[in-house]
Amino acid sequence: MSTATPGRTPVQGAVGTAHTRVEGREKVTGAARYAGEIPFAGLAHGWLVLSTVTRGRIRSLDTDRVLGMPGVLAVLHHGNAPRLETDYIGFLGGPPDPTAAVFQNDRVPHSGWPVALVVAETPEQAREAAESLTVSYDEEPHDVTLDPGHPDAYPAPGHMPAETEKGDLEARLAASAVVVDERYTTPEEHHSMMEPHAATALWDGGRLEVVDSNQGATWVRAELAKMFSLDESAVRVRSEHVGGGFGSKGLRAHQVSAVMAATVLQRPVRVVLTRRQMFTLGGYRSPTAQRVRLGADADGTLRALEHRSLNQTSRVYEFVEPGAAVARVMYDADAHRTANHVVRLDVPSPTFMRAPGEAPGSFAIEAALDELAERCGLDPIELRLRNEPEAGPVSGQPFSSRNLAACFREGARRFGWADRDPRPGTRRDGRWLLGTGTAAASFPAGAGPSTALLTAEADGSFTVRIAAADIGTGARTALTLIAADALEVAPERVRVRIGDSDFGPAMIAGGSMGTRSWAWAITAAAADLRERLTLGTGIPPEGITVRSDTTAALRALTQKERHSFGAQFAEVAVDTATGEVRVRRMLGIFAAGRIVNPLTARNQLVGGMIWGLSMALHEEAVRDRSTGALYGPDLAGYHVATHADVADIEADWIDDPDPDDPVGIKGIGEIGIVGAAAAVANAVWHATGVRHRALPIRPDRVLTAPVAGGGAADA
Ligand code: MOS
Repeated sequence: MSTATPGRTPVQGAVGTAHTRVEGREKVTGAARYAGEIPFAGLAHGWLVLSTVTRGRIRSLDTDRVLGMPGVLAVLHHGNAPRLETDYIGFLGGPPDPTAAVFQNDRVPHSGWPVALVVAETPEQAREAAESLTVSYDEEPHDVTLDPGHPDAYPAPGHMPAETEKGDLEARLAASAVVVDERYTTPEEHHSMMEPHAATALWDGGRLEVVDSNQGATWVRAELAKMFSLDESAVRVRSEHVGGGFGSKGLRAHQVSAVMAATVLQRPVRVVLTRRQMFTLGGYRSPTAQRVRLGADADGTLRALEHRSLNQTSRVYEFVEPGAAVARVMYDADAHRTANHVVRLDVPSPTFMRAPGEAPGSFAIEAALDELAERCGLDPIELRLRNEPEAGPVSGQPFSSRNLAACFREGARRFGWADRDPRPGTRRDGRWLLGTGTAAASFPAGAGPSTALLTAEADGSFTVRIAAADIGTGARTALTLIAADALEVAPERVRVRIGDSDFGPAMIAGGSMGTRSWAWAITAAAADLRERLTLGTGIPPEGITVRSDTTAALRALTQKERHSFGAQFAEVAVDTATGEVRVRRMLGIFAAGRIVNPLTARNQLVGGMIWGLSMALHEEAVRDRSTGALYGPDLAGYHVATHADVADIEADWIDDPDPDDPVGIKGIGEIGIVGAAAAVANAVWHATGVRHRALPIRPDRVLTAPVAGGGAADA
């Protein structure tokens, strides 16, 4: 591939070619240090104490005894902790989740709420003392059950309108030749990234330094500055290597409590969440209760579409998992209604988790489409192709590009879809019933304002500095390739430094927008720097540095429906005697913009698809109604797909450069999971003739499902 433009020397482009991670050697040799393992002189260790009751007030904490234990330096709690500012609009445009603003009052709004931090010389001493701290509570009754008909549910916007409506839904449904009206549920799911949350805070020459593991150094800096009433320039947040984030690594209790303790003790203090603490303090994906109603002509043309989704949130923070939003992009109908509702319960605050909204929403709508195809006697791909909208079903705006049909065509060809017998329950391999399923995927393609610093060094190399985050995606490597092409030099001459808030504001690694946003800023800086270099004044010893800011360029973008698309395929084998479901094959074909690094892109997309498999068959955090806490909140009790669950998974893409992006990028962080669970569930129907509308499709649900042709299995 060439990046040649008229009048320039053609060079071999780095973007689009496979590159292993630039920090790969450091990571596999252990030289790469993660936030919890960077040494500091005089480091003290904080251990969080979490509430054992689900709702009530703290009556007392028996701190005296704990303060006498070996190595203990302090016990912070609501009675002595520094006061925080929480009445502000944060980096992402909303108020902060008070769960992070620890120790501000005596209220306990959910099980696992942080009530104290014990600080000691060693982590072992801190843990010993934390586990010895007696806290008494005045308990109150709690409600932790997401009931689809909960009387306190209300429409909630989150980052988009809560409800959209056009046309007369009931009239169109009544006039439809074929109707689907089904309810779908998805359970509470957890990020469970490999590296737990960890932060070290210290004061250095009047400046607060926080070494952290997060998805945006300037995001965490902005929130900490606001909470502690500091000037942003007085706070530096660094986050060099991150072992996974998936939406969970923003501002949380560990950074805030570490800063409090470092301030009180005037020593560096580290706070690391345990795996179990992550289940209540790291956020999670809310369970959803969804209803989809579809009305169509006999030929499958949609006339009515309704998608309603309900999620739970905590008493202290409103988080919306917008399951109904995907229908606003994917399918049009004369009458079209979508609604996202929430209900406040005595549960921890949910948060963004890989494809928030789209992941559970696509399960419901794509499963419902499969049911409609069955009732119309149509191939599920043909049904979707017949319903391709001309413009945004709700917005009316044109699509910047929509290559869904091409994904289905290429996917069907490679998967061997044409040979499929549409009748369910007819293919066998010994004790296994076999089936195949498909589903569509989409995810918004956006970009956020970012700044980049680009330096032409005196030795002929280039340094990029940008407060990007590489949360395991390969972002650092992608940005190296992008900078190399923008500068028309080999990637070996480019050094990319990320994860430092001193580099200036930048988009977070979130919303599938990181790489695109940062690439935009780097491309703009490179154009500026090349111009300076052609002036030919020579490079001084300190180099020549330029700074870019994409705020104005992004504001100038016209309003369009901008999305990535994809087609998911799955083949499953179901043993109806044991209830076991095995996924034998998955294929995802995506139209997701220009692919910067095929190696890490494939990794991202396959990773998302494995999440979808895991969501379909394994993942489920179960809350005990009587205690209000989770059963088995750890990686023994919370089952995620492992290597043994993943047989043959392939992701590929079609050419789909974004017409309005300087590099052609759309973003690939989240689309891999979208539709993947539906493809698996649809394949289970094809294998068995039974619809599973409640995830995960556990063995007991397969076993207790009605026999083929018997309809719903909503156990
Ligand atoms: Mo992602 S859920 O936007 O980190």
